[in-house]
Amino acid sequence: MQAAPETIFLKDYTQAAYLVEDVHLTFRLDPSATRVLARIRFAPNPAVADRRFFLHGEQLKLISARIDGAPVAPDVTQTGLTCDVPDAPFTWEAEVQIDPAANTALEGLYMSNGMYCTQCEAEGFRKITFYPDRPDVMAPFTVRVAGDLPVLLSNGNPTGSGDGWAEWHDPWPKPAYLFALVAGDLRATSDSFTTMSGKKVDLNIWVRPGDEGKTAFAMDALKRSMKWDEDVYGREYDLDVFNIVAVDDFNMGAMENKGLNIFNSSAVLCSPETSTDANFARIEAIIAHEYFHNWTGNRITCRDWFQLCLKEGLTVFRDQQFSGDMRDPAVQRIEDVLALRARQFREDNGPLAHPVRPDRYAEINNFYTATVYEKGAELIGMLKRLVGDDGYAKALDLYFDRHDGQAATIEDWLKVFEDATGRDLTQFKRWYEQAGTPRVTVADEFKDGTYTLHFKQITNPTPNQDVKAPQVIPIAVGLLGRNGDEVLPTQVLEMTEGAQSFHFEGLATKPVPSILRGFSAPVILERDLSASERAFLLAHDTDAFNKWEAGRSLAKDVLLRMVTDGVAPDPDYLDAIRTALRDDGLNPAFRALVLSLPGEDDLAQTLFDHGLTPDPAAIHAAREGLRDALAAHLAADLAPLYDAMACPGPFRPDAVDAGKRSLRLAALSLLTRVDGPARAQALYDAADNMTEQLGALSCLLDAGAGDAASQAFRAQWQGDRLVMDKWFAMQVVHAAPETAAATAERLTTDDAFDWKNPNRFRSVFGALTMNAAGFHHADGAGYALLADWLIRLDGANPQTAARMSTAFETWRRYDADRQEMIRAALRRIADTKGLSRDMSEMVGRMLGGG
Ligand code: TRP
Ligand code: ZN
Repeated sequence: MQAAPETIFLKDYTQAAYLVEDVHLTFRLDPSATRVLARIRFAPNPAVADRRFFLHGEQLKLISARIDGAPVAPDVTQTGLTCDVPDAPFTWEAEVQIDPAANTALEGLYMSNGMYCTQCEAEGFRKITFYPDRPDVMAPFTVRVAGDLPVLLSNGNPTGSGDGWAEWHDPWPKPAYLFALVAGDLRATSDSFTTMSGKKVDLNIWVRPGDEGKTAFAMDALKRSMKWDEDVYGREYDLDVFNIVAVDDFNMGAMENKGLNIFNSSAVLCSPETSTDANFARIEAIIAHEYFHNWTGNRITCRDWFQLCLKEGLTVFRDQQFSGDMRDPAVQRIEDVLALRARQFREDNGPLAHPVRPDRYAEINNFYTATVYEKGAELIGMLKRLVGDDGYAKALDLYFDRHDGQAATIEDWLKVFEDATGRDLTQFKRWYEQAGTPRVTVADEFKDGTYTLHFKQITNPTPNQDVKAPQVIPIAVGLLGRNGDEVLPTQVLEMTEGAQSFHFEGLATKPVPSILRGFSAPVILERDLSASERAFLLAHDTDAFNKWEAGRSLAKDVLLRMVTDGVAPDPDYLDAIRTALRDDGLNPAFRALVLSLPGEDDLAQTLFDHGLTPDPAAIHAAREGLRDALAAHLAADLAPLYDAMACPGPFRPDAVDAGKRSLRLAALSLLTRVDGPARAQALYDAADNMTEQLGALSCLLDAGAGDAASQAFRAQWQGDRLVMDKWFAMQVVHAAPETAAATAERLTTDDAFDWKNPNRFRSVFGALTMNAAGFHHADGAGYALLADWLIRLDGANPQTAARMSTAFETWRRYDADRQEMIRAALRRIADTKGLSRDMSEMVGRMLGGG
């Protein structure tokens, strides 16, 4: 094994020795020999006694360096340079040469389809020039871009341009991670937005020629985001222009560079013919997310990378609020919780568990996780619940007021809430510091008109944290009468102890409790409830989230018993689902969610939590069996439902029509099981939108009748990269368990497979890991194949390779044979020569090296 990469600790934070007053950059673009000239005004930081001048720099060829005009000869290493400098403000000038065309890591300045673009978060700027590349060093930037390309962009406002050059100035001091540059043959879709104080802002979405027809929805989402942030948070945009660029080769969804957001093309381009309803919703959320970062991230940034959740948790919370306001808040909440459970609970329960604010890391890129983002957002939601809507509004106003222009910490954030509301948040802070998902058990009791709920909380040990203290848990509770009336509207109980009881007096009969309404805290609630009580809640709960949750927990119990006892599906469950499905008062999107079943990974984790060893094949079989049983039981309802949910007229991506399509496709998928593939084939042939075309194709593939449609799909869409990603993913997601790995392997030999493009790599291997029974097939082929390709990808793009290695994080759940095969795959990765720091850290943590 390689030497473990060096660990960086939160407790070791010290201020920067030199601060930056302003930055001038000149780029002379060339694919393999770009020159970057930096002129930077530095000033010693009087708060630091023992000053050493160190600039980060990686893979840079230093051409020349000067201080106050005089040539200097700095000491250059693999990670940066040091140099003797005056004990007073001075001007640093350096010219470096870099090679964007050879940059396959997609970090720093790189090329994608002939266009230049940058990705600097978290530590990519040091691959562009020598600089104190840390978020607490902030400065205004002036950037001159010279190159033989029609469009030359950087942050801030345009200040001049001519033949082959353009100049930009960003007046807002920013850390280097928010720097961006884009150059290429690009086409803009343009519009404008007038802010609440009457300033007109030019908006542009830049795409490659040919993609202009796919920008309208994103532009509309951007304008709605700008308006929403003014209306809800009082936040106004602060530059004359806002540019968005779509790039095909990108490691993540998008990046909030000041005034110049760069997007993975999958997170911005869409049209009814090429994009599903889920794509539209994701694009709306990501556009909003990046725009909202302008205040929560850019105007107020992070002191150091341990504080990442300060901007990400808050910005996810804001984009979730936005999506809820634009769509259906209850459906949005259910979808957010589904994602949280699938990704964050999984992470929190395995070897990669870490606090929302980690206290150590080797490679910060590995901490852009569901815990920092999604659990981070849950913590904001809990704070809001604890201090109330008014308290939250006051705290946020104070936050923007007090910390504008600063690089802040979680301590600053919590202090703002304490000062604005008078509440002591000492115990709440544990949510940021302790990893692991609290498990809350509840028992109840009714005596002499008093109803009592007894709660206990316990959090399992996680890496580097053996003992957990109790956390404050806001538990929203409502009580229902036996006839379904609400006898006590929602109340937030504040659990602060390891064990705690709450009393409700003056009740005539024992109520049915609805606990953790709206999923008021990111905990695992364990409660022994009979199937009939759950069915009662599914039918009567006035809280939409818990109504859905009741159906989901029913399904989970049924599935678990099918797996462990081999019993047939419980008819009471099937009846309860049918009742909900028939309730026309319920929104179609909600009914589609009621019809959906817990995923195989979720079932595996639950079995493991109950002390059992999950068998992926048995779980898959049970889930298929339950879908067959649902199809048979609901048969009479499905065809009429399928017809009723058709959306006549032109395609609209709004939540209402999307909800109808989702229920329609859920019905079709069950119908195909009882009626055969004819209806799905008819929809495939007639569909004029990607949601239905792809929905029909998945039904056909599930029925083993998808070959013709799949070939037709490929022929129709081979010119469209984003649609072809779907085509690749479909084959693998819908492959039978025993052929999933072979299917993925075969696709890697397809002419259109391009492993260096992260979207395409994910479309095959992300899909393989999502096919749980296929990935975990007992022959181990999935593990071996993924390890081979992660090793290959790590050599080119460590960030994406390391991120995808999390497919192995659940290995401890499985039987000895599978554990041994996964450990062997991980060891094989670990033993690879020249393995990246990213991958070494991930594999080390998964194997249990701390
Ligand atoms: N800050 C970005 C966001 O949350 C995400 C991000 C971090 C990112 N590092 C990245 C995106 C690297 C692309 C590549 O929106
Ligand atoms: Zn973000």
